[in-house]
Amino acid sequence: MVEFILNDTFIRTGEPPGSSLLDFIRYKAGLNGTKIGCREGDCGACMVMEGSQEDGKLKYRTLVSCLTPLGNVHGKHIVTVEGLNMEHLSPAQQAIVEHGGTQCGFCTPGFVVSLTSHSLTEEAANPEKAIAALDGNICRCTGYKSVERAARALAAAMETGKHTNRLEQLVKNKQLPEYFSGIAGRLAGIQQPQRETA
Ligand code: FES
Ligand code: FES
Repeated sequence: MVEFILNDTFIRTGEPPGSSLLDFIRYKAGLNGTKIGCREGDCGACMVMEGSQEDGKLKYRTLVSCLTPLGNVHGKHIVTVEGLNMEHLSPAQQAIVEHGGTQCGFCTPGFVVSLTSHSLTEEAANPEKAIAALDGNICRCTGYKSVERAARALAAAMETGKHTNRLEQLVKNKQLPEYFSGIAGRLAGIQQPQRETA
């Protein structure tokens, strides 16, 4: 069994561990915000955030779900674009809207996920790093300047200076959904699989 948290929902599934996380998200969980583009790890349409405990802290990074085997996310928190929704737009969504960073919208969930993941880093906010965080995302219609402007605006709006508790700060400022606060405790309750010994 593979156990993980998908957005705010605990998942326990007997799907094959080698099957793709992308297919699970879209066809088993019914979350269609994560798009299928190349299926080769090149376009970023299927980008999700993965949260895991490292050195006693919950840390997030992006991954392409098309190349991620389901078994690899056991004990992790997987966040799709739906998991970032609140009653109002998140800062990344707002920045993309304000700077005209979307047209057909196919790539937009991936960009929102990458920008949000970047805003969770503990490094000081920096426009160049925010733009670099989008390296894995391809857009076929809008062009990159508008998305770059959105990334710059987002970095400028973030509080400067290093942060050791960025996640709590974003939840407190209503820039991330509240359920993020409880994820670390919920992950701690998921057993790691027993390793077979020879
Ligand atoms: S579908 Fe293109 S990177 Fe996954
Ligand atoms: S807005 Fe159409 S692919 Fe980016």
